[in-house]
Amino acid sequence: MTETDFIPSAYKNDVKEGVVCYKSPSNIALVKYWGKKENQIPQNPSISFTLDACATTTQIAFTKLEKEADDFSFDLWFEGKPKEDFKPKITIFLKRIEKYLPFLKSYYLKIETSNSFPHSSGIASSASGMSAMALCLMDIEKQLNPDLSDDLFTKKASFLARLGSGSACRSIEGDIIQWGVHKETEGSSDLFGIKYPYEVHNNFKNFHDTILLVDKGQKQVSSTVGHNLMYNHPYATQRFNQAHENLNKLKSVFKKGDLVEFIKIVESEALTLHAMMMTSMPYFILMKPNTLEIINKIWEFREKSRTHVCFTLDAGANVHVLYPENEKAVVNQFIKDELVVFCENQQYICDRIGFGAKKL
Ligand code: PMV
Repeated sequence: MTETDFIPSAYKNDVKEGVVCYKSPSNIALVKYWGKKENQIPQNPSISFTLDACATTTQIAFTKLEKEADDFSFDLWFEGKPKEDFKPKITIFLKRIEKYLPFLKSYYLKIETSNSFPHSSGIASSASGMSAMALCLMDIEKQLNPDLSDDLFTKKASFLARLGSGSACRSIEGDIIQWGVHKETEGSSDLFGIKYPYEVHNNFKNFHDTILLVDKGQKQVSSTVGHNLMYNHPYATQRFNQAHENLNKLKSVFKKGDLVEFIKIVESEALTLHAMMMTSMPYFILMKPNTLEIINKIWEFREKSRTHVCFTLDAGANVHVLYPENEKAVVNQFIKDELVVFCENQQYICDRIGFGAKKL
């Protein structure tokens, strides 16, 4: 498929007003997306577990205007209050997707959104927020054009979410989503995320992700700035190739349920992401002392307990602790006894692999 496949033909229905609402989850990348080309095209393919508990709920009430406006007409409410400072980001998003949703300037939109996780938790809400919004807008399009197939609806929602925030395209469906052209993955695309199309062993069913909130402050480096650091980065080419190789390796890992190999790939990906930031110009260290304390504790405990607990990181200091369902009890105890002390205000979020966004 190409971009033009997402430009709709003339709408059939005339809809005066309505309300749509979606709850969309966050996701955690196993092979990381870091570096992009123009129009939110990734420099390398990535894969993620869709999460369940960490989610954004967005409702859009839409009313048809007397005549098409020159600019977007919308208001934004966040957790029950008007939120002017989010509006520029939404305007940029709407501009980017206008070509694919030609109805946008014909409606006034009241967008109300809230997160299941605390706002100042250092957890990025862009993936869940942009995917929830993309789904609401697609639902409006579906009302204007009821012939839209489910397959195109899902792909286009992912396509639009990607234009808001790259990783958001991996939040529409679950439970494992791949995004970005990868020779060895049939149907993979730079334009939208796809459900991982190959066999996945039961070891990866109901996988857990406990998110340790090490630093709840504002992100030191926005992801836009972060991705740009990969331009002219001395290790960029090797890194992009490595992501392809790690996806190749994951294929047999998922099939066989090989948790030992899984850990190697996932932890190496997390540290590589941070290594890229440490070796760019300007350079950043986004881990905090407690991030390293936690990583060392996980390594020590894994060795001692013979469990398969491992970590991954986003572009920040928080740690995602990943472990299989059958080791839940012992790992939860370990987290409470040994890791929670390293969290800001002892805060952490128990999440797990999930199955994608829901219409409410
Ligand atoms: O979607 P963005 O532009 O915020 O980028 C997200 C990048 C990482 O979270 C660091 C990795 C990933 O693949 O999700």
